[in-house]
Amino acid sequence: MRTRQFIQLKTELPGPNSRALVARREAAMPLGYGKSTPIAVRRAHGALVEDVDGNILIDFAGGIGALNVGHTPAEVVAAIRAQAEELIHVCGLVATTEPHVALAEKLNQIAPIRGSKKAMITNTGAEAVEQAVQIARAATGRAAVIAFEGAYHGRTLFTQTLTSKYALFKKGFGPFAPEVYRAPFPYLYRIGIGTSLTDEEKVELVWEAFERVLVAHVMPEHVAAVIIEPVQGEGGFIPVPPVFMQRLREVCTRYGIVLIVDEVQSGMARTGKMFAIEHYGIEPDIITIAKSVGAGMPIAATVGRAELMDKVHLGGLGGTYSGNPIACAAALRAIEIIERDNLCARAEHLGNIARQRLLALQARYPLIGDVRGLGAMLAIELVTDPHTRAPFPADQTLALVQEIARNGVLMIRCGLYSNGLRFLFPLVITEAQLHEGLDVVEEAIARATQAVPSQQ
Ligand SMILES: Cc1ncc(COP(=O)(O)O)c(C=O)c1O
Repeated sequence: MRTRQFIQLKTELPGPNSRALVARREAAMPLGYGKSTPIAVRRAHGALVEDVDGNILIDFAGGIGALNVGHTPAEVVAAIRAQAEELIHVCGLVATTEPHVALAEKLNQIAPIRGSKKAMITNTGAEAVEQAVQIARAATGRAAVIAFEGAYHGRTLFTQTLTSKYALFKKGFGPFAPEVYRAPFPYLYRIGIGTSLTDEEKVELVWEAFERVLVAHVMPEHVAAVIIEPVQGEGGFIPVPPVFMQRLREVCTRYGIVLIVDEVQSGMARTGKMFAIEHYGIEPDIITIAKSVGAGMPIAATVGRAELMDKVHLGGLGGTYSGNPIACAAALRAIEIIERDNLCARAEHLGNIARQRLLALQARYPLIGDVRGLGAMLAIELVTDPHTRAPFPADQTLALVQEIARNGVLMIRCGLYSNGLRFLFPLVITEAQLHEGLDVVEEAIARATQAVPSQQ
């Protein structure tokens, strides 16, 4: 077994204990519940994960962006322990707890919206998005919602309706909710392939298409909300071009449409700012937050301008576990770590290191069609031909992820065509660990390139 400085492989991967546990999982859980690697994990700390066979791997998946502060940060663990001894649950619909209030205050303070704000705490990103739409509808008295191609907003029926990667997330689940309209997303890498269009011209084309939606599909006066991920996550880590976002803000302001930015994946320092929208010089009306806000605990929030948030009738918001004190205590500590340790600057720094290495790889391996992202929210898009940009097949991309796992790095795919690899390493990863993980990715890309006949 190959042993490196951090990756320690004592068995083949998956080892016998992983195989046994995964077999039990498959017998006990529905087969539709996917997994990108066959590894079973016993414990983890920082950016290192120990599997049930005692192998040590580097984590580049970061719980799909839920672990910006790393696995099991000591202060978060202590906060969870202390809170669990005092109070596990009372329910915010029954009584008030200090961690719940303190977290709402803190989220209102860090949300990138000026003026008076309010925060409604929930359990999952999908719930935060559903709630954002409910608030926008209650506040505007309108029904329509515009979402984008390639969007991912969750797996509940409404958020699945907003989501737009059909075969993987929607097949067999319709009919979906009414009054959702789809606009093209500025996925510049796949617009005008083979033409000489500049990025500016491509953005214009996509913007014109957005304006057409407001003529051909729905009247702006009927639209309650536009929802957008500032850096599309599942869709392939595609940052929205600034001018597009600024125009979206202008249109929303002009027609009284609520602009919701979904920062479930892009938030909490990942892109080099606390929230990705801070790169754009505009403010949303509502922001959805989840994943890394809880350091791995299931917690989410919808934060917005107070006058909107207060438009919902008494009793219209809630949930049994909303504001669970243990999850709130963990989130308060996680935010403290992000601020105190300046993880925004760290994301910028690590993102630069990874981007430079990935760009160097792209220069050597035509399999890498695009390197993109913002800060430490980075992805590579794989293609069988850099000229036609034909997507590398989704099953081969999954096989690549699994080969990378067999060599000691946990990763997950992304992209409309499931042909991307996303990099969501914890922001506490050391530079040496980051480089070692990238070495493993590089070796796998080199081997995969040899297997694509057109690229030799
Ligand atoms: C942008 C975005 N919105 C919403 C969600 C849904 O969050 P959850 O899985 O916590 O429901 C995700 C999950 O990946 C996401 O990336």
